[in-house]
Amino acid sequence: MIKSKSKRASAAIEHPSGDPRFKLVDRTLKRFQYQQDALIEVLHTAQEVFGFLEDDLLIYVARQLKLPLSWVYGVATFYHFFSLKPQGEHTCTVCMGTACYVKQAAEIVAMLQAEFGVEPGQTTPDGKLSVATARCLGSCGLAPVLVIDNDVLGRETPVSTLETLRARLAGINGHKKAPALETVEDMEEEIL
Ligand code: FES
Repeated sequence: MIKSKSKRASAAIEHPSGDPRFKLVDRTLKRFQYQQDALIEVLHTAQEVFGFLEDDLLIYVARQLKLPLSWVYGVATFYHFFSLKPQGEHTCTVCMGTACYVKQAAEIVAMLQAEFGVEPGQTTPDGKLSVATARCLGSCGLAPVLVIDNDVLGRETPVSTLETLRARLAGINGHKKAPALETVEDMEEEIL
């Protein structure tokens, strides 16, 4: 049974991979003070950031909330809006929270629709690109924020997004605008 409203921030452990996307999941965990009854909210953020709920991610969430993995897995499979399988070969999630919205996030989504013919929640017919939107990812100072594959990118524009995606689809793994920024914290320090 889920325990109610216990505070677990002191027990938090960072994901050992250093993958910056986990920082965004951590922010939601912190926002809800590691309460076990925030599981669905945390899974929503995890899926928005990663595109789907892979096993490693479910294990991480279970550990952070100190819940049995079977419980987390059960919740993730019960609700139809969670996906345990990858969608397209590449993923692009656009934050549509208020700060990002007023800084061209909607224009980025419109560009994706125009260039690739996909709306949020869809994958291109060739299975190459999935597009999604997210609520605030907790890095509003970097608005607009995108997650392309396993990279968290800030201060994007429709043009820079298109450049990055064309490169990814061509098999080039790079981001010209901020190649040295590896974590959300690094990115935020850059603009302070
Ligand atoms: S609104 Fe996009 S990160 Fe907060």
